[in-house]
Amino acid sequence: MIITIDGPAGSGKSTAARKLAAKLGIPYLDTGAMYRVVTLAALETGIDLHDEAALTRVAEQGQYALDPGPTHIRVTLDGRDVTEEIRSMRVNDHTRFIAGSPGVRRALIQKQREIVGRMGDVVTEGRDQGTAAFPDADVKFFLDAAPTKRVERRYHELLADGEEVTFDQVLANVLERDRTDSQRPVAPLRMPPGAIQIDTTHLSIAEVLDAMLAHLRDAGWLSQVTGSIPD
Ligand code: C5P
Repeated sequence: MIITIDGPAGSGKSTAARKLAAKLGIPYLDTGAMYRVVTLAALETGIDLHDEAALTRVAEQGQYALDPGPTHIRVTLDGRDVTEEIRSMRVNDHTRFIAGSPGVRRALIQKQREIVGRMGDVVTEGRDQGTAAFPDADVKFFLDAAPTKRVERRYHELLADGEEVTFDQVLANVLERDRTDSQRPVAPLRMPPGAIQIDTTHLSIAEVLDAMLAHLRDAGWLSQVTGSIPD
């Protein structure tokens, strides 16, 4: 069973994906981490971020790995643990070059399909999972929230990670990523056809999880997932 969760930065999709996967006892895939680690790899090799061929090579051949599990995802680059580093503002500020590259998107979608093919049951989250990567997914969710709320969440996450950022810097970054994610010609951020939309502006994590579980229960999916906990 494939469950996709799409949505913009700060919509709460990563936490929702992690919690839902843990509740169902299945792995989750954080595809944003893939774009982030390719961004870090490109920055470290010093290639021109407009060089499409070079970016595609990094995505296809870079020595990065994701170790997905039900409760965490560990990311390595050249054998080094970069799980924290890929969340930095330096990476945030450059993901748009990588996310806008058709070659990178092709390479990463192929890798996502291979990973998901090996996993069987999975919750996969990102900005194109229900549209471009897995248009035939069994269940699709689209999470969204008011922009001020999304910026607030990202700001507090970054502060908790020890980043020295101002609210205005995060605001500018999130709005810029919203703009480039929804306007790029390849696989722009869109609500997937048939997706269940959840506005998380005024919801706690537990309430978002409940809303998703209620849908899965009503649609008769819960009993079909390995290890699922119906109540
Ligand atoms: O979700 P997260 O903020 O970690 O994603 C980082 C960046 O990667 C996003 O701003 C977006 O540009 C890109 N991305 C994407 N498609 C995905 C996942 C992430 O374009 N499936």
